[in-house]
Amino acid sequence: MKKLTIAIDGYASTGKSSIAKKIAIKYGYIYINSGSMYRAVTLFAIENKILGLLNDNIDLFIEKLNRISINFRFSENNLISNVFLNNRNVEKDIGSLEVSNYVSKVAAIPEIRKEMVKLQRNVDRGKGVVMDGRDIGSVVFPDADIKLFLTASDAVRASRRFEEMINNGSSVSYDDILNNIRNRDKIDSSRSDSPLIIEKDAVVIDNSNMSIDEQINQINILINYKLAN
Ligand code: C5P
Repeated sequence: MKKLTIAIDGYASTGKSSIAKKIAIKYGYIYINSGSMYRAVTLFAIENKILGLLNDNIDLFIEKLNRISINFRFSENNLISNVFLNNRNVEKDIGSLEVSNYVSKVAAIPEIRKEMVKLQRNVDRGKGVVMDGRDIGSVVFPDADIKLFLTASDAVRASRRFEEMINNGSSVSYDDILNNIRNRDKIDSSRSDSPLIIEKDAVVIDNSNMSIDEQINQINILINYKLAN
């Protein structure tokens, strides 16, 4: 059976990773959340107190990242990856609002993007891959079999994210989340290196009023068509 490369890009908190994970499990593909890599770099910067360099010495900031190693390890079923920062599983730590507040600034640095894209392209596409992020269809895998672009109103996205974080025990405010989402979209869409764009051959899904199952059904139709043709 043919194995596809599926790129899922879109705005912040549009549910890309939930969708990507479900699709990967259904088809037995590898799932990679590329945002978690930029988040891991940001976590390293926070923990090593070098974020200040972002404002006045980007070269030194990059130099300080020499000690960083980021990789994915696959869980029992070998499909869903966890991100490791210097051999430590940081999957939980990278979800904080503090990381979210700095990640787009870190992700706008071309030298960092170059290294992350290299790692992302290392994945074995022969096994079938679902990768989500901001530049997957445009830069990482411009030849992807299926390119999806997810969007939703920012109020809906903030509510979903707020609920998720509260359920996970974080104490955050709705307004802080809404501001974070708007800010990240702005930085991600306007940076000069690989900005978030809608590729001409991408299928846009506005999921403001759609359930996850409705989205999966639509995507299944696309996948079945690709597999048959
Ligand atoms: O996907 P997630 O929202 O976790 O990504 C966090 C941030 O990482 C994004 O807001 C963006 O700044 C950056 N990112 C990126 N390119 C990707 C994936 C994420 O610039 N492919």
